[in-house]
Amino acid sequence: MRALVIGAGGVGSAIANIASRKSFITELVIADYDASKAHAVTQKIQDPRFTSVEVDAGDLAALEGLIKKVNPDVVINAVDPRFVMNIFNAAKNAGVNYIDMALSLSIAHPTDPFNKVGVKLGDDQFAQHDAWLSQGNYALIGIGIEPGMSDIFARYAQDYLFSEIDAVTILDSSSLTVDGYEFAPSFSIWTTIEECLNPPLIWNEGWHTAKPFTGGVTFDFPEGIGPVECVDVEHEEVVLIPQKVKAKRVTFKYGLGNDFIEKLKTIHALGLSIKQKVNYRGMEIAPRDFLASLLPDPATIGPIMHGKTCAGAHVAGLNKEGKPYACYIYNVVDNEWSMENYGDQAVVWQTAINPVIAMELIANGTWKPAGVVGPEWLEPKPFLDLIESYGSSWHIRDEDPAGIGA
Ligand SMILES: NC(=O)c1ccc[n+]([C@@H]2O[C@H](COP(=O)([O-])OP(=O)(O)OC[C@H]3O[C@@H](n4cnc5c(N)ncnc54)[C@H](O)[C@@H]3O)[C@@H](O)[C@H]2O)c1
Repeated sequence: MRALVIGAGGVGSAIANIASRKSFITELVIADYDASKAHAVTQKIQDPRFTSVEVDAGDLAALEGLIKKVNPDVVINAVDPRFVMNIFNAAKNAGVNYIDMALSLSIAHPTDPFNKVGVKLGDDQFAQHDAWLSQGNYALIGIGIEPGMSDIFARYAQDYLFSEIDAVTILDSSSLTVDGYEFAPSFSIWTTIEECLNPPLIWNEGWHTAKPFTGGVTFDFPEGIGPVECVDVEHEEVVLIPQKVKAKRVTFKYGLGNDFIEKLKTIHALGLSIKQKVNYRGMEIAPRDFLASLLPDPATIGPIMHGKTCAGAHVAGLNKEGKPYACYIYNVVDNEWSMENYGDQAVVWQTAINPVIAMELIANGTWKPAGVVGPEWLEPKPFLDLIESYGSSWHIRDEDPAGIGA
């Protein structure tokens, strides 16, 4: 499989790193608008199958030109979500398959954003399903850890564990700390703000929205992470899971902890979350980009980071025997382990294995995606069966059948 990875940040470089250990990858080109970042990835890997180039994901013609030149089997988008539609469209125009880990952006309802749904995450991509299908290409969207493995857990729960599902709650948290920093998001601050400050999306036999930082629960995360305050946020799983898993309710509760929540509220109150450019003494800069420039680069904090990251799906309903049952299906990665074995920090490594596992399943013909599909469109077991061969693991922890509330 020949792959073109666009974005040589935390996730893109980890994808390259993991893919370099896989023989089904025959060629991988990694591209970034910062050519030195892409070059650093290939320098680190030292694999003759891997090369780097420069491309601006904001330039559709340049993207199409690069895709045609490289002629890959698949384009992997690992740039921030602002560029999803450009890379998705460039792949489609070039007639090439596409994989990403974040869906096209939402647009809040113009007059009633906290009660009514506007344009949902991924709507712009799903609108093109028929065109991709008739072209004979696939776009596998949202195949990171969350969305991604979390969606596969939900589909597994439906197929193998439950006869009826009341609620799927995606719960994510960590015990990660970064030496010397009071505030250091473990992945793109741009995405963190987008997820946490947009109106949370809720599936309750139909899509609804709510106010940010609502739906709070304290969930006891496994493997020593312990109890963390979680709130509803806007996340792709709430769009994707209800399309293939028959659940009455689907939410995403992000275990940010009270301290992080308060800092995000302050960032928002000060206007530093604004993504549109403002003029400062003749200089055009988006406050959110400026904030990002002050924070440590998530791709490089691995050596000073400690702790574990956890992602999973809490599912409650009736088991296959019709008895009340609940469980948390999860994946935990220890930063010390991922740094020692791959040199990638835990969050980006935990994200990056998923598109590579997907590529392996597509390359060997086990998965045959067609059109625009999410991870839960595909058979979950072969994916879960491969996780251990990538050095990771997944677990099922029984939970109180009464559910987690909220
Ligand atoms: N599904 C998941 O579990 C999950 C988890 C983490 C991140 N993600 C997604 O993965 C993607 C990458 O995240 P990351 O943490 O690696 O971000 P990052 O900020 O570390 O990396 C992004 C890279 O894109 C490059 N870039 C930015 N603008 C560009 C442009 N115009 N043209 C070309 N390159 C450009 C940057 O130089 C950087 O190297 C994001 O879309 C993020 O939302 C998904």
